[in-house]
Parts: sequence; C-alpha cells; structure tokens
Amino acid sequence: MGGKRIVVAVDGPAGSGKSSVSREAARRLGLRYIDSGAIYRAVTHFLLGRFGSLEKGRSYAAFLDGLEIAQRFDPEGRVHTSVNGDDVSSAIRDELIARNIGTVSDDPGIRNFVNGLLRSWSGRESLIMDGRDIGTVVFPDAAVKIFLDASAEVRSLRRVAEYREMGKTVDVNEIRNQIIRRDQEDTERPFGRLAKAEGSFYIDTSSMDKEEVIKRIIELIAEAGAPGLMDGRQG
Ligand code: CDP
Repeated sequence: MGGKRIVVAVDGPAGSGKSSVSREAARRLGLRYIDSGAIYRAVTHFLLGRFGSLEKGRSYAAFLDGLEIAQRFDPEGRVHTSVNGDDVSSAIRDELIARNIGTVSDDPGIRNFVNGLLRSWSGRESLIMDGRDIGTVVFPDAAVKIFLDASAEVRSLRRVAEYREMGKTVDVNEIRNQIIRRDQEDTERPFGRLAKAEGSFYIDTSSMDKEEVIKRIIELIAEAGAPGLMDGRQG
C-alpha cells in the first residue's frame, strides 16, 4: 500500500445536491465520504440537549471540551453520525436543529473545533467531503475542489421533491423562502462563508440530472489524476 491520500472538496449552497452526489461518487470510487453539515448539526443537537435553547450571538465553544463526534460511511453509501457514542443520524434532521444551526455555525470557536475534527480525518484514507467552506478554509490544498450550484428555484423544487419522497407535505413558497434565507446566512457569515474556492471547478447543475452530476464529479477526479485513489479503497 502506499500512495498519497487525496481530499476532494465539494462546496455549494443548500439544495445544490452536494451531499447526495458526493455520497454516490464516493461509494462508486470506494472513497470515504464525510458530511460536514452533519457535524454542525450534531454539535447543535448536543448544545440543545445541554441548554434547551440557544441564544444567537452567545459563544458556546467552551462547552465542547471532551465532546466526541464520530462519523461512519457504510458500504451502502449511508452516513452514520454519533455524539458521545449515541447515533444521532435521524435526530439531527429535525426541524429544531435547522432552526438553531445558524447560531452554532456562525460561532468561530465552534468552526475551529469542527475544522480540527474534519482535518483529523484526512491523511489515513482518501475522502470526499462536502460543505460550505471545505475548499476555502478546511482543505485549501485539496486535490480536487468543486463548487456545485443551481438556481434558487431549481434548488427549492429539489428540496420539495425530497420532502415529498419522505412522505412530508410542504409548502413550495415556504421552502423557497428558507432557501433564500439560508443562502443569505451562508454567504454573509463572517467566518467560513460559502464562496467558490480558488482553483475550483464550477458546476451549474440547474439543468443536469443527478447521474450527470455524479459522472462529472468522477470525471474531474480522474482528470486530476488523483494519485492513490485505488489505495483509498475500503473493503
Ligand atoms: O440542508 P443542507 O444540505 O443545506 O445543510 P447541511 O449540509 O446539512 O448543513 C447544515 C448547516 O450547516 C448549513 O446551514 C450550513 O450553514 C452549515 N454548514 C457550515 O456552516 N459549514 C459547513 N462546512 C457545512 C455546513
């Protein structure tokens, strides 16, 4: 074995499809996938459990000492996130988490904690990681950087379809407003804001289907001649 372990950084706004295409590209290539958004969700879950509610503007970074967050990517392409040994994968998808995550992900101390954790997972194996600031802040030297985008309208419709698949009824206008609000939060936060990283490939997925995006990502990884890919294979 030997060979360099590589990092593929995929950033983009809410509803751009980053997590589903990154997950599937990773599964096909035998790489590990890391969902950085789930880590912010897990921190939010932990802090809500401890404080009941969170105050915007207050820093909670001091309460993360000793907090253990782990994430596993299984061979079927599912992500399992745990907090101090408890599986929180479903709990972190709750609406309450979404409502409070801004307070947590705006906090520079918390961003440092999460970035340290994310960086600690590189080096041992090749990985695809998605988020908002992976190519700009967490891994500015990533072998491949991708910025996935789509119009706010297309992203809203994708979110609505996802909710419907889960059997939830949602209001299209409300989802569109949420997407617009999240875009604003993501691009305006002082630390770790969403931006296209230098040297990244920009993919507008507005008129592409999921399979086309997955193939394009796999192609970009292959074109980058990403070394050590096969070494990164798990099982
Ligand atoms: O639902 P969506 O895919 O947009 O969210 P997610 O990827 O689960 O991320 C949840 C939240 O964490 C987002 O609102 C982001 O603002 C924040 N986040 C972040 O600040 N930095 C990252 N690297 C990833 C997510």
